[in-house]
Amino acid sequence: MAGEDEVSFPVPKSKARQLLSVFFVVALVTGFSFCLFYFNSLGSYVSRCPTYSNGASTEVRTEHEDLHGCASYIRLPGMPLDAKSKNLEQGKCDIFSGSWIGDPSGPVYTNNSCSFIHPHQNCMSNGRPDKEYLYWRWKPYGCNLSAFDSFKFLSSMRDKSWAFIGDSVIRNHIQSMLCHLSKVEEPVEIYHDEPYQCRTWYFVNHNFTLAMIWAPLLVKAENLQDAKLEIQLHLDMLEEKWTAQYCKYDFVIFSGGQWFLRKMVVWKDNAIVGCHNCEDSSIKELGIEYPYRKVLQLTYQFMTSSEHKPLVFFRTWTPDHFEYGEWYSGGICNRTRPYDEGQYTGKPVDHVMRLVELEEFEKAAAMAEEGGARLKLLDTLHLSLLRPDGHPGAYRTLDPFGEGKSTAKVQNDCVHWCLPGPIDTWDELIMKMLVDEGEISYS
Ligand SMILES: *[C@@H]1O[C@H](CO)[C@@H](O)[C@H](O)[C@H]1NC(C)=O
Ligand SMILES: *[C@@H]1O[C@H](CO)[C@@H](O)[C@H](O)[C@H]1NC(C)=O
Ligand SMILES: *[C@@H]1O[C@H](CO)[C@@H](O)[C@H](O)[C@H]1NC(C)=O
Ligand SMILES: *[C@@H]1O[C@H](CO)[C@@H](O)[C@H](O)[C@H]1NC(C)=O
Repeated sequence: MAGEDEVSFPVPKSKARQLLSVFFVVALVTGFSFCLFYFNSLGSYVSRCPTYSNGASTEVRTEHEDLHGCASYIRLPGMPLDAKSKNLEQGKCDIFSGSWIGDPSGPVYTNNSCSFIHPHQNCMSNGRPDKEYLYWRWKPYGCNLSAFDSFKFLSSMRDKSWAFIGDSVIRNHIQSMLCHLSKVEEPVEIYHDEPYQCRTWYFVNHNFTLAMIWAPLLVKAENLQDAKLEIQLHLDMLEEKWTAQYCKYDFVIFSGGQWFLRKMVVWKDNAIVGCHNCEDSSIKELGIEYPYRKVLQLTYQFMTSSEHKPLVFFRTWTPDHFEYGEWYSGGICNRTRPYDEGQYTGKPVDHVMRLVELEEFEKAAAMAEEGGARLKLLDTLHLSLLRPDGHPGAYRTLDPFGEGKSTAKVQNDCVHWCLPGPIDTWDELIMKMLVDEGEISYS
């Protein structure tokens, strides 16, 4: 079967067909979801991001009893072998291996104190009734992760700037960052494009700039606005929205994401090299892995050869947690607490994309070391996999089960994350990495 050899983890032959159909389903789901989110951005994709100018305008569970017990540590492909015991033995902290532990102190901001939360991710305002999902913190094995220190972060970032490059999950993340930082200073928006996909905020008192740059596929691509259309993906042209601005930022965070699961025709040098799930059966099926790998390679090539050397974070794959179906088929995510280690290890697509990411990151990091570029892996997949309770689910809209509303028709979102919610931890991880890099000092 075409595309089968693109699947890089062992799949019995009989499972291959099933697996491909899983990908197909995920692609449909994702396409549909993004279509819903961005139907209002029709035709606006080509608008460029112009330059900004500074100054413009409960219960505490025991911590992992299984440390020396019999529960096995489930390793995702590519994850360091024995990360846990390595932590313990060397006294060195791998902040991405750990568990979620109960934290009665709860979130540091709420829907009332932060005005930057997207309505579809504002679970509090939308009336999500269960609250337990708010009372966990990420505890790496062998060390503690400090709470995000907004004062310290902002004062260390004086005269600096960050770009967040990617899709709606990157947007989800920048909104968490805005909520954290607005506790200290309320930023002003100094730029947005027409569909509000590219936006820049400025913290006057800290001369600090934070930008969201919309580039869900990182390379040039057409037909994003309608999931019924095949995306035309250009493997040899990076999206200018981010490359044109790259030299302006001191810090960059980027990621790939679920857009790579959509049906697409893949171009290089003005010729079609293949496709994924496309209608024309004469075009070679590439699978989902090939385009993602090539896009990451091109992105890293740009970054490692650029004269400009910001501190770059690559955030790993973010999983969905649909159960009982998918986006379009009544899938839900109604769990109210995290998984225990080993209880859930992700869907096949999570493993495939993760492997691509780790392989390409490792190659790029070697190149970066030679050329003086600075690349960091923000490896959030594992800790995100353990949080099926962190998505809006039905509470992507206001009061979905309210009077007069048909429960049969509630669309669930098990892709994005509630704010406040588990991805607030991503900021804490960044904080820790910045301290380790000497970008933030606690003297
Ligand atoms: C925040 O959520 C609560 C319910 O959890 C709601 O009563 C309140 O009105 C919300 N605030 C805003 C500003 O939406
Ligand atoms: C982590 O914090 C807990 C509670 O404050 C403390 O008991 C423990 O010793 C800390 N662990 C490390 C490795 O610092
Ligand atoms: C703000 O920061 C930029 C560097 O990002 C610097 O060039 C500029 O002089 C700073 N402005 C002020 C008012 O300090
Ligand atoms: C989640 O939904 C499933 C299917 O409708 C149901 O069986 C289950 O009890 C629900 N779980 C919770 C925690 O509500």
